[in-house]
Amino acid sequence: KSKNLLLLTTLSTFVLSNPLSDSLLSKDCPLSHGKREFESIKLSDRRTVEKLNEKRSVPDFVKVKADINLALTQSQEFFPADFGNYGPLMIRLAWHCNGSYRKTDGRGGCDGARIRFNPEMSWEDNANLDNAIKVLEPVKEKYGDILSWGDLITLTGDVSLENMGLQTIGFCGGRIDDPDGSGSLVLGPSADQERISHCVVNGDCHAPFGPTTIGLIYVNPGGHLDIPDPKLSVKDIRDSFSRMGMNDRETVALIGGGNNILSEVLIQTYFLGHAFGKTHGACSNPPCGDGVGNNTFSSGFEGQWTETPTKWTNDFFKHLLTKKYELFKGPGGKNQWRPAGKDEPNIRMLTSDLALIEDPIFLDLVKEYAADIGSLQRDFVKTWYKLMSNDMGPATRCLGNLVPPPQPFQNPLPSPPKQLPKFSVVSKDIVKILYSSEDNGGDQLNDGRYYLGALFVELASQCLFTFRITDYAGGCNGARIRFSPERDYPDNVGLDKVLETLKPIKEKYVGLSWADLIVLAGQTAIEEAGGEKIKFIGGRTDAADGNGAEKIPPRDYYYNSVIKLKDQIKVTGLPTRETVALFGRLRSDIQQRNRNFSGTYRKSKDLNKFSNDFFKILLKEDWKKISEDEFQAKGKDIFITSFDFSLLEDLEFKSYVEEFAEDLDAFKSAFKKGWDLLSKAELNFIEKKKKTVFDRIFGFFD
Ligand code: HEM
Repeated sequence: KSKNLLLLTTLSTFVLSNPLSDSLLSKDCPLSHGKREFESIKLSDRRTVEKLNEKRSVPDFVKVKADINLALTQSQEFFPADFGNYGPLMIRLAWHCNGSYRKTDGRGGCDGARIRFNPEMSWEDNANLDNAIKVLEPVKEKYGDILSWGDLITLTGDVSLENMGLQTIGFCGGRIDDPDGSGSLVLGPSADQERISHCVVNGDCHAPFGPTTIGLIYVNPGGHLDIPDPKLSVKDIRDSFSRMGMNDRETVALIGGGNNILSEVLIQTYFLGHAFGKTHGACSNPPCGDGVGNNTFSSGFEGQWTETPTKWTNDFFKHLLTKKYELFKGPGGKNQWRPAGKDEPNIRMLTSDLALIEDPIFLDLVKEYAADIGSLQRDFVKTWYKLMSNDMGPATRCLGNLVPPPQPFQNPLPSPPKQLPKFSVVSKDIVKILYSSEDNGGDQLNDGRYYLGALFVELASQCLFTFRITDYAGGCNGARIRFSPERDYPDNVGLDKVLETLKPIKEKYVGLSWADLIVLAGQTAIEEAGGEKIKFIGGRTDAADGNGAEKIPPRDYYYNSVIKLKDQIKVTGLPTRETVALFGRLRSDIQQRNRNFSGTYRKSKDLNKFSNDFFKILLKEDWKKISEDEFQAKGKDIFITSFDFSLLEDLEFKSYVEEFAEDLDAFKSAFKKGWDLLSKAELNFIEKKKKTVFDRIFGFFD
């Protein structure tokens, strides 16, 4: 425990002594506006951070809430609170910190609290949020390391809503602060972003990029490409919110042309946000005067949405419905909208606000919520919770005394079976079906027998490799690979037949989940083929359907295999050397053909040998590209994928290929470590506090 405390202290000392955080806390923060170079920032290793924080503990959030509540109404001289309440500013902080989450690769979100650092802090949209963070500094100091910035910022959003009259449903605590801002490089303007998610027209950026405009959290408030036409904003709003993962299942329905429940979700979020606060653009040439209070400049727009900006009401959309708006240039020089005519209240709308009455589905909801605040309130608090917790992964990762019951967006899994089978016995049954003289659906070997082992490894790998350390989505727990949409992903075509071959074993053992069986079958095949023994931990459980897997569609947007592999390594969180080793796993000729490749790297069909042949062959052969995705050894019936070939195109990857080709033992042990990390990745992050229960539930098997 004391060792852990020491590590935590070291980490927080690093954070506090980081020059970026120093300047963040200084009064004249130089980082909130303007362009800067970010490439020198050291890349943070998320898994190291996880390790340092393995025994995460959290404070009593009820007490923290009381302290935050006090801070909200104590206006500070360095940045006086509008209307005497920091609530609206804090909602914007919590929303911007969390709204960077994108479902394409699970990056972003407030877990890590990178909004404190460059580059995120100086994104155009985050202007003045450094001041919001500064207001919270005394609360952070009071609790110290036990309260992460990510939890504090997010919880402050909840307290602000409650302070202004809206009760939240609870709080998922346990965010872990990153030591620097590098985790956000690909989410905003940077060379990394350009490499991975190049945006051709800024303002019309597409997935995997989250927002439509680089440097914003969502869409341009001034309209599509700054054109003040609310109609043109509609699509931008839909696009950017769906990429944020708002209601993934509904997004699928949307793409499939089904009914658009997605808009319902985002509209609830949107309305709630602009029930509060105001925009800031006091003059057209900032800094304006002393730069604070009435002289604040953040977005450049100026004015409030309702007459009661610190009170929860549905006036925002009553105003949308009942007034005619005219375009004008605000004091900040930007296009905005005000009610036309005399005796109208002094309120303002953004072009993107008016988009909400330009779409028939949006408009219906505007009407519903204008008529019934209760309905808005009930729906909204759930959406807010989702927005705040999307990047936290399964509900089992939520810590603290305010955690609500698991919500649908967390795709909760049933509890693991009470009684687990003896996995050593199950493993023996798997061995029995590996070979057959009859066609069992497996690969045919030189000696004429049919072999299922390589297919078992493919199945387990496909199931496990979906894990993302960025938002803890994916992994084999739940065995969602049995259902659509995961079953239908191109690389999984044909694996349903492999599942069939395992069915008799599944049915034989009470308490054996598909998820455990899939991993165990892959592992058993590896060991039987000559790989090192790997400790198996069971206790996975099966989902009732495939929901949740739509979060982890294949990431096929990369334009270069090396970049793809490097990015995959970061998203999975596995070390590079071990990831390269996993390329040397058993491969099935049948499965390669199912995937539309011409075959595998093995000349003969001795697919049942676990060896370092893959690396030897990779180095020895003269490769010729035969399609976008495949290479062939010149004059031979040997094939590898472009992904395999990328191991030769990067110096670091290649150095491991050379090492493994020369040293079988080094390969075997790196493979074992890689498989071990991958197969236990999702289990490692189950709440550590429950460790004793966890120990009791999970069966161990050597
Ligand atoms: C403020 C745009 C969604 C909550 C603002 C400001 C802009 C803006 C331009 C003014 C910032 C300033 O100058 O101080 C947008 C757009 C959105 C969006 C274009 C989506 C299409 C949301 C959401 C929430 C939210 C989803 C919360 C759930 C707020 C709040 C403020 C604000 C509370 C007031 C901050 C203050 O009073 O200091 N928004 N927003 N917004 N936004 Fe949004």
